[in-house]
Amino acid sequence: MLTSMKAKFETLFHEQPEVAAFAPGRINLIGEHTDYNGGYVFPAAIELGTYGLASKREDHKIRLYSNNFEDSGVIEFSLDDLQFNAAHSWANYPKGMIKFLKEAGYSIDTGFNILVEGNIPNGASLSSSASIEMLTGWLLKSLFDLQVERLELIQLGRKVENQFIGVNSGIMDQFIVGMGRKDQAILLDTATLDYHYVPAEFGDYVISIMNTNKRRELAESKYNERLEECQKALALLQQELDITALGHLDTETFNKHTYLIEDEILLRRARHAVTENARVKQAYEALEQSDFTAFGKLLNDSHASLKEDYEVTGTELDTLAETAQQVEGVLGARMTGAGFAGCAIALVHKERIQQLEEEVTQIYANKIGYAPSFYHVNIGDGVKSIEV
Ligand code: GLA
Repeated sequence: MLTSMKAKFETLFHEQPEVAAFAPGRINLIGEHTDYNGGYVFPAAIELGTYGLASKREDHKIRLYSNNFEDSGVIEFSLDDLQFNAAHSWANYPKGMIKFLKEAGYSIDTGFNILVEGNIPNGASLSSSASIEMLTGWLLKSLFDLQVERLELIQLGRKVENQFIGVNSGIMDQFIVGMGRKDQAILLDTATLDYHYVPAEFGDYVISIMNTNKRRELAESKYNERLEECQKALALLQQELDITALGHLDTETFNKHTYLIEDEILLRRARHAVTENARVKQAYEALEQSDFTAFGKLLNDSHASLKEDYEVTGTELDTLAETAQQVEGVLGARMTGAGFAGCAIALVHKERIQQLEEEVTQIYANKIGYAPSFYHVNIGDGVKSIEV
Protein backbone atom coordinates (compact mmCIF):
# COMPACT_ATOMS: atom_id res chain seq x y z
CA MET A 1 0.00 0.00 0.00
CA LEU A 2 2.81 2.44 0.88
CA THR A 3 4.46 2.15 -2.54
CA SER A 4 1.30 3.11 -4.36
CA MET A 5 0.61 5.82 -1.78
CA LYS A 6 4.04 7.33 -2.36
CA ALA A 7 3.48 7.47 -6.08
CA LYS A 8 0.10 9.08 -5.53
CA PHE A 9 1.61 11.58 -3.10
CA GLU A 10 4.12 12.71 -5.70
CA THR A 11 1.46 13.02 -8.37
CA LEU A 12 -0.79 15.08 -6.13
CA PHE A 13 1.70 17.32 -4.38
CA HIS A 14 4.76 17.26 -6.70
CA GLU A 15 7.11 16.41 -3.86
CA GLN A 16 8.18 13.46 -1.77
CA PRO A 17 6.70 12.66 1.64
CA GLU A 18 8.98 13.36 4.59
CA VAL A 19 7.23 11.29 7.24
CA ALA A 20 4.84 8.33 7.40
CA ALA A 21 2.66 6.86 10.14
CA PHE A 22 0.06 4.22 10.86
CA ALA A 23 -2.87 4.45 13.31
CA PRO A 24 -4.98 1.36 14.02
CA GLY A 25 -8.69 0.86 14.46
CA ARG A 26 -10.00 -1.00 17.49
CA ILE A 27 -12.43 -3.51 18.86
CA ASN A 28 -13.81 -3.32 22.36
CA LEU A 29 -13.93 -6.71 24.07
CA ILE A 30 -16.42 -5.53 26.68
CA GLY A 31 -17.37 -2.33 28.54
CA GLU A 32 -19.68 -0.47 26.17
CA HIS A 33 -21.01 3.00 26.92
CA THR A 34 -19.15 2.95 30.22
CA ASP A 35 -16.34 5.33 29.27
CA TYR A 36 -18.39 8.54 29.62
CA ASN A 37 -19.78 7.16 32.87
CA GLY A 38 -16.41 6.89 34.60
CA GLY A 39 -16.33 3.10 34.24
CA TYR A 40 -14.01 0.46 32.85
CA VAL A 41 -13.41 -0.45 29.21
CA PHE A 42 -11.45 -3.35 27.71
CA PRO A 43 -10.47 -2.53 24.12
CA ALA A 44 -7.69 -3.75 21.81
CA ALA A 45 -6.13 -2.14 18.72
CA ILE A 46 -6.40 -4.12 15.48
CA GLU A 47 -4.07 -4.41 12.52
CA LEU A 48 -6.58 -2.68 10.28
CA GLY A 49 -6.01 1.07 10.33
CA THR A 50 -5.10 4.26 8.52
CA TYR A 51 -1.79 5.00 6.81
CA GLY A 52 -0.60 8.54 6.23
CA LEU A 53 2.21 10.39 4.44
CA ALA A 54 3.07 14.05 4.97
CA SER A 55 5.41 16.81 3.85
CA LYS A 56 5.86 20.44 4.89
CA ARG A 57 5.02 23.32 2.58
CA GLU A 58 6.50 26.78 2.44
CA ASP A 59 3.16 28.61 2.42
CA HIS A 60 0.26 28.37 4.88
CA LYS A 61 -1.82 25.96 2.79
CA ILE A 62 -2.99 22.67 4.19
CA ARG A 63 -3.78 20.16 1.46
CA LEU A 64 -5.37 16.83 2.36
CA TYR A 65 -6.30 13.87 0.20
CA SER A 66 -7.85 10.52 1.09
CA ASN A 67 -7.64 7.53 -1.20
CA ASN A 68 -10.87 6.41 0.47
CA PHE A 69 -12.78 9.53 -0.61
CA GLU A 70 -11.41 10.20 -4.07
CA ASP A 71 -14.55 12.08 -5.06
CA SER A 72 -13.74 14.78 -2.51
CA GLY A 73 -10.46 15.47 -4.32
CA VAL A 74 -7.76 17.52 -2.59
CA ILE A 75 -9.33 19.41 0.30
CA GLU A 76 -7.54 22.67 0.85
CA PHE A 77 -7.72 25.27 3.61
CA SER A 78 -5.39 27.67 5.36
CA LEU A 79 -3.46 27.21 8.57
CA ASP A 80 -5.04 30.52 9.55
CA ASP A 81 -8.64 29.38 9.14
CA LEU A 82 -9.37 26.19 11.01
CA GLN A 83 -13.13 26.44 11.43
CA PHE A 84 -15.36 23.38 11.09
CA ASN A 85 -16.72 23.25 7.56
CA ALA A 86 -19.31 20.63 6.64
CA ALA A 87 -18.17 20.81 3.01
CA HIS A 88 -14.76 19.54 4.12
CA SER A 89 -16.36 16.19 5.10
CA TRP A 90 -13.75 13.67 6.36
CA ALA A 91 -11.06 16.41 6.52
CA ASN A 92 -12.76 17.93 9.57
CA TYR A 93 -11.15 15.22 11.72
CA PRO A 94 -7.58 16.19 10.80
CA LYS A 95 -8.59 19.85 10.81
CA GLY A 96 -9.85 19.65 14.39
CA MET A 97 -6.62 17.98 15.44
CA ILE A 98 -4.51 20.71 13.80
CA LYS A 99 -6.60 23.42 15.45
CA PHE A 100 -6.38 21.93 18.94
CA LEU A 101 -2.66 21.16 18.68
CA LYS A 102 -2.05 24.80 17.76
CA GLU A 103 -4.33 26.04 20.54
CA ALA A 104 -2.42 23.86 23.01
CA GLY A 105 0.67 25.88 22.07
CA TYR A 106 2.42 23.50 19.67
CA SER A 107 4.27 25.29 16.94
CA ILE A 108 2.94 24.41 13.51
CA ASP A 109 4.25 27.34 11.55
CA THR A 110 3.88 26.31 7.92
CA GLY A 111 1.33 24.51 5.84
CA PHE A 112 1.68 20.85 4.81
CA ASN A 113 0.37 18.08 2.56
CA ILE A 114 -1.15 14.85 3.83
CA LEU A 115 -2.27 11.74 1.96
CA VAL A 116 -4.18 9.07 3.87
CA GLU A 117 -5.52 5.65 3.07
CA GLY A 118 -7.32 3.34 5.45
CA ASN A 119 -8.51 -0.24 5.43
CA ILE A 120 -10.93 0.06 8.33
CA PRO A 121 -14.48 -0.04 6.98
CA ASN A 122 -15.98 3.43 7.65
CA GLY A 123 -18.92 3.78 9.99
CA ALA A 124 -18.42 0.20 11.18
CA SER A 125 -17.78 1.06 14.85
CA LEU A 126 -14.12 0.14 14.52
CA SER A 127 -12.99 3.71 15.23
CA SER A 128 -12.02 4.96 11.82
CA SER A 129 -12.46 8.50 13.14
CA ALA A 130 -10.19 8.11 16.19
CA SER A 131 -7.72 6.46 13.82
CA ILE A 132 -7.57 9.50 11.51
CA GLU A 133 -7.37 11.89 14.47
CA MET A 134 -4.46 10.07 16.06
CA LEU A 135 -2.78 9.58 12.68
CA THR A 136 -2.91 13.33 12.04
CA GLY A 137 -1.54 14.06 15.50
CA TRP A 138 1.33 11.64 14.98
CA LEU A 139 2.19 12.91 11.49
CA LEU A 140 2.33 16.49 12.79
CA LYS A 141 4.39 15.45 15.82
CA SER A 142 6.94 13.86 13.43
CA LEU A 143 6.84 16.59 10.81
CA PHE A 144 7.22 19.55 13.20
CA ASP A 145 9.14 17.70 15.90
CA LEU A 146 6.46 18.51 18.48
CA GLN A 147 7.23 17.46 22.05
CA VAL A 148 3.74 16.16 22.64
CA GLU A 149 3.06 13.03 24.69
CA ARG A 150 0.75 10.23 23.55
CA LEU A 151 -1.70 10.96 26.34
CA GLU A 152 -2.05 14.56 25.29
CA LEU A 153 -2.71 13.53 21.68
CA ILE A 154 -5.36 11.16 23.02
CA GLN A 155 -7.02 13.96 24.97
CA LEU A 156 -6.86 16.30 21.99
CA GLY A 157 -8.42 13.61 19.78
CA ARG A 158 -11.34 13.28 22.18
CA LYS A 159 -11.66 17.07 22.21
CA VAL A 160 -12.00 16.98 18.43
CA GLU A 161 -14.98 14.62 18.76
CA ASN A 162 -16.58 16.58 21.60
CA GLN A 163 -15.94 20.17 20.57
CA PHE A 164 -15.32 20.10 16.83
CA ILE A 165 -17.43 17.23 15.46
CA GLY A 166 -20.11 17.39 18.16
CA VAL A 167 -20.14 13.81 19.46
CA ASN A 168 -19.85 13.72 23.25
CA SER A 169 -17.86 10.52 23.24
CA GLY A 170 -15.64 9.18 25.98
CA ILE A 171 -11.91 8.58 25.76
CA MET A 172 -11.83 4.87 24.91
CA ASP A 173 -11.24 5.05 21.17
CA GLN A 174 -8.44 7.60 21.14
CA PHE A 175 -6.86 5.89 24.15
CA ILE A 176 -6.60 2.47 22.57
CA VAL A 177 -5.60 3.87 19.17
CA GLY A 178 -2.85 5.81 20.96
CA MET A 179 -1.72 3.18 23.47
CA GLY A 180 -2.48 -0.19 21.85
CA ARG A 181 0.16 -2.89 21.84
CA LYS A 182 0.55 -6.03 19.76
CA ASP A 183 -1.38 -9.02 21.16
CA GLN A 184 -2.52 -7.03 24.21
CA ALA A 185 -5.85 -5.57 25.24
CA ILE A 186 -6.00 -2.66 27.68
CA LEU A 187 -8.08 -2.61 30.85
CA LEU A 188 -8.68 1.11 31.33
CA ASP A 189 -10.35 2.85 34.24
CA THR A 190 -11.80 5.90 32.51
CA ALA A 191 -12.27 7.73 35.83
CA THR A 192 -8.56 7.78 36.68
CA LEU A 193 -6.99 6.80 33.34
CA ASP A 194 -5.12 4.02 35.18
CA TYR A 195 -4.60 1.19 32.75
CA HIS A 196 -2.78 -2.01 32.22
CA TYR A 197 -2.02 -4.37 29.40
CA VAL A 198 -3.63 -7.80 29.39
CA PRO A 199 -2.57 -10.53 26.91
CA ALA A 200 -5.42 -10.99 24.43
CA GLU A 201 -4.90 -14.74 24.57
CA PHE A 202 -7.92 -16.99 24.15
CA GLY A 203 -6.40 -20.46 23.86
CA ASP A 204 -8.12 -22.37 21.05
CA TYR A 205 -10.51 -19.48 20.47
CA VAL A 206 -10.21 -16.36 18.34
CA ILE A 207 -12.15 -13.14 17.99
CA SER A 208 -14.13 -12.88 14.80
CA ILE A 209 -15.35 -9.44 13.74
CA MET A 210 -18.74 -9.47 12.00
CA ASN A 211 -19.89 -6.38 10.10
CA THR A 212 -23.63 -5.71 9.68
CA ASN A 213 -22.72 -3.69 6.58
CA LYS A 214 -25.40 -1.26 7.66
CA ARG A 215 -24.25 2.33 7.78
CA ARG A 216 -24.94 4.13 10.99
CA GLU A 217 -27.63 6.74 10.71
CA LEU A 218 -28.53 9.31 13.35
CA ALA A 219 -26.10 7.50 15.58
CA GLU A 220 -24.53 10.72 16.79
CA SER A 221 -27.71 12.24 18.12
CA LYS A 222 -28.73 8.96 19.77
CA TYR A 223 -25.29 8.66 21.29
CA ASN A 224 -25.52 12.12 22.81
CA GLU A 225 -29.04 11.31 24.01
CA ARG A 226 -27.75 8.27 25.94
CA LEU A 227 -25.13 10.43 27.63
CA GLU A 228 -27.83 12.91 28.71
CA GLU A 229 -30.00 10.09 30.03
CA CYS A 230 -27.11 8.79 32.11
CA GLN A 231 -26.46 12.28 33.47
CA LYS A 232 -30.09 12.63 34.49
CA ALA A 233 -30.08 9.25 36.21
CA LEU A 234 -26.86 10.17 37.99
CA ALA A 235 -28.36 13.44 39.25
CA LEU A 236 -31.31 11.50 40.72
CA LEU A 237 -29.03 9.01 42.46
CA GLN A 238 -26.94 11.87 43.82
CA GLN A 239 -29.91 12.92 45.95
CA GLU A 240 -28.86 10.13 48.30
CA LEU A 241 -25.47 8.92 47.11
CA ASP A 242 -22.12 10.65 47.22
CA ILE A 243 -20.92 9.70 43.74
CA THR A 244 -19.72 11.67 40.72
CA ALA A 245 -20.27 8.99 38.06
CA LEU A 246 -22.42 5.90 37.49
CA GLY A 247 -19.19 3.96 37.15
CA HIS A 248 -18.55 4.43 40.87
CA LEU A 249 -21.59 2.35 41.83
CA ASP A 250 -21.51 -1.36 42.48
CA THR A 251 -24.57 -3.34 41.42
CA GLU A 252 -25.74 -3.92 44.98
CA THR A 253 -25.72 -0.25 45.99
CA PHE A 254 -27.44 0.62 42.73
CA ASN A 255 -30.16 -1.98 43.32
CA LYS A 256 -30.86 -0.52 46.76
CA HIS A 257 -31.35 2.95 45.33
CA THR A 258 -33.38 2.32 42.21
CA TYR A 259 -36.39 3.91 43.95
CA LEU A 260 -34.71 7.26 43.30
CA ILE A 261 -35.23 6.85 39.54
CA GLU A 262 -38.92 6.78 38.77
CA ASP A 263 -38.55 7.13 35.02
CA GLU A 264 -38.35 3.63 33.64
CA ILE A 265 -36.14 4.53 30.68
CA LEU A 266 -33.61 6.37 32.83
CA LEU A 267 -33.58 3.43 35.20
CA ARG A 268 -32.70 1.02 32.40
CA ARG A 269 -29.96 3.28 31.04
CA ALA A 270 -28.35 3.55 34.46
CA ARG A 271 -28.70 -0.19 35.07
CA HIS A 272 -26.78 -0.89 31.88
CA ALA A 273 -23.97 1.49 32.87
CA VAL A 274 -23.67 -0.11 36.31
CA THR A 275 -24.01 -3.78 35.33
CA GLU A 276 -21.78 -3.40 32.27
CA ASN A 277 -19.06 -1.96 34.45
CA ALA A 278 -19.31 -4.96 36.76
CA ARG A 279 -19.12 -7.27 33.74
CA VAL A 280 -15.84 -5.70 32.58
CA LYS A 281 -14.20 -6.51 35.88
CA GLN A 282 -15.57 -10.06 35.80
CA ALA A 283 -14.43 -10.48 32.20
CA TYR A 284 -10.95 -9.34 33.11
CA GLU A 285 -10.83 -11.91 35.93
CA ALA A 286 -12.18 -14.64 33.65
CA LEU A 287 -9.48 -13.88 31.08
CA GLU A 288 -6.76 -13.89 33.74
CA GLN A 289 -7.93 -17.38 34.72
CA SER A 290 -8.27 -18.49 31.10
CA ASP A 291 -11.94 -19.20 31.80
CA PHE A 292 -13.08 -18.53 28.25
CA THR A 293 -16.52 -19.98 28.85
CA ALA A 294 -17.19 -17.44 31.60
CA PHE A 295 -15.73 -14.70 29.40
CA GLY A 296 -18.06 -15.69 26.54
CA LYS A 297 -21.11 -15.69 28.77
CA LEU A 298 -20.28 -12.12 29.82
CA LEU A 299 -20.14 -11.10 26.15
CA ASN A 300 -23.67 -12.48 25.72
CA ASP A 301 -24.91 -10.70 28.86
CA SER A 302 -23.35 -7.46 27.64
CA HIS A 303 -25.19 -7.71 24.35
CA ALA A 304 -28.50 -8.43 26.08
CA SER A 305 -28.04 -5.39 28.31
CA LEU A 306 -27.15 -3.16 25.34
CA LYS A 307 -30.26 -4.46 23.60
CA GLU A 308 -32.82 -4.38 26.41
CA ASP A 309 -31.61 -1.69 28.78
CA TYR A 310 -29.52 0.63 26.64
CA GLU A 311 -31.34 0.11 23.34
CA VAL A 312 -28.39 0.71 21.03
CA THR A 313 -28.41 -2.51 19.03
CA GLY A 314 -31.14 -2.81 16.37
CA THR A 315 -32.25 -5.75 14.25
CA GLU A 316 -29.01 -6.09 12.30
CA LEU A 317 -26.68 -6.24 15.32
CA ASP A 318 -29.11 -8.44 17.22
CA THR A 319 -29.38 -10.88 14.34
CA LEU A 320 -25.59 -11.08 14.01
CA ALA A 321 -24.81 -11.47 17.69
CA GLU A 322 -27.73 -13.70 18.63
CA THR A 323 -27.23 -15.99 15.63
CA ALA A 324 -23.51 -16.26 16.37
CA GLN A 325 -24.28 -17.13 20.00
CA GLN A 326 -26.13 -20.26 18.82
CA VAL A 327 -23.35 -21.57 16.57
CA GLU A 328 -21.46 -24.58 17.87
CA GLY A 329 -18.01 -23.58 19.07
CA VAL A 330 -18.99 -19.98 19.82
CA LEU A 331 -18.57 -19.04 23.48
CA GLY A 332 -20.10 -15.58 23.21
CA ALA A 333 -20.92 -12.67 20.92
CA ARG A 334 -21.83 -9.02 21.30
CA MET A 335 -21.96 -5.73 19.44
CA THR A 336 -18.79 -3.64 19.72
CA GLY A 337 -18.40 0.15 19.76
CA ALA A 338 -21.22 2.67 19.86
CA GLY A 339 -23.83 0.34 18.35
CA PHE A 340 -26.87 1.24 16.19
CA ALA A 341 -25.07 -0.51 13.31
CA GLY A 342 -21.46 -1.41 12.62
CA CYS A 343 -19.82 -4.53 13.97
CA ALA A 344 -20.23 -7.32 16.48
CA ILE A 345 -17.53 -9.67 17.75
CA ALA A 346 -17.71 -13.39 18.50
CA LEU A 347 -15.36 -15.59 20.49
CA VAL A 348 -15.20 -18.69 18.32
CA HIS A 349 -13.20 -21.92 18.31
CA LYS A 350 -10.45 -21.81 15.68
CA GLU A 351 -11.94 -24.79 13.91
CA ARG A 352 -15.45 -23.36 13.78
CA ILE A 353 -14.73 -20.10 12.00
CA GLN A 354 -16.07 -21.30 8.68
CA GLN A 355 -19.18 -22.72 10.27
CA LEU A 356 -19.76 -19.41 12.06
CA GLU A 357 -19.46 -17.48 8.81
CA GLU A 358 -21.73 -19.83 6.88
CA GLU A 359 -24.49 -20.10 9.48
CA VAL A 360 -24.53 -16.41 10.31
CA THR A 361 -24.43 -15.36 6.66
CA GLN A 362 -27.35 -17.62 5.80
CA ILE A 363 -29.63 -16.46 8.59
CA TYR A 364 -28.57 -12.81 8.42
CA ALA A 365 -28.94 -12.52 4.64
CA ASN A 366 -32.30 -14.21 4.78
CA LYS A 367 -33.63 -11.85 7.40
CA ILE A 368 -31.87 -8.57 6.52
CA GLY A 369 -31.62 -8.90 2.76
CA TYR A 370 -27.85 -8.62 2.30
CA ALA A 371 -24.79 -10.43 3.63
CA PRO A 372 -22.57 -9.48 6.57
CA SER A 373 -18.74 -9.39 6.28
CA PHE A 374 -16.22 -11.12 8.52
CA TYR A 375 -12.69 -10.10 9.46
CA HIS A 376 -10.05 -12.10 11.26
CA VAL A 377 -7.36 -9.67 12.25
CA ASN A 378 -4.53 -9.63 14.74
CA ILE A 379 -4.38 -7.39 17.76
CA GLY A 380 -1.78 -4.78 16.84
CA ASP A 381 0.14 -1.70 17.95
CA GLY A 382 -1.11 1.79 18.62
CA VAL A 383 -0.23 4.79 16.45
CA LYS A 384 3.38 4.71 15.26
CA SER A 385 5.83 6.06 12.73
CA ILE A 386 6.65 3.84 9.79
CA GLU A 387 9.39 4.11 7.21
CA VAL A 388 8.62 6.42 4.35
C1 GLA B 1 -17.95 5.15 20.68
C2 GLA B 1 -17.30 6.25 21.50
C3 GLA B 1 -16.58 5.69 22.73
C4 GLA B 1 -17.50 4.76 23.52
C5 GLA B 1 -18.20 3.76 22.60
C6 GLA B 1 -19.25 2.97 23.33
O1 GLA B 1 -16.98 4.32 20.13
O2 GLA B 1 -16.37 6.97 20.72
O3 GLA B 1 -16.10 6.75 23.53
O4 GLA B 1 -18.42 5.49 24.27
O5 GLA B 1 -18.82 4.39 21.50
O6 GLA B 1 -18.67 2.17 24.31
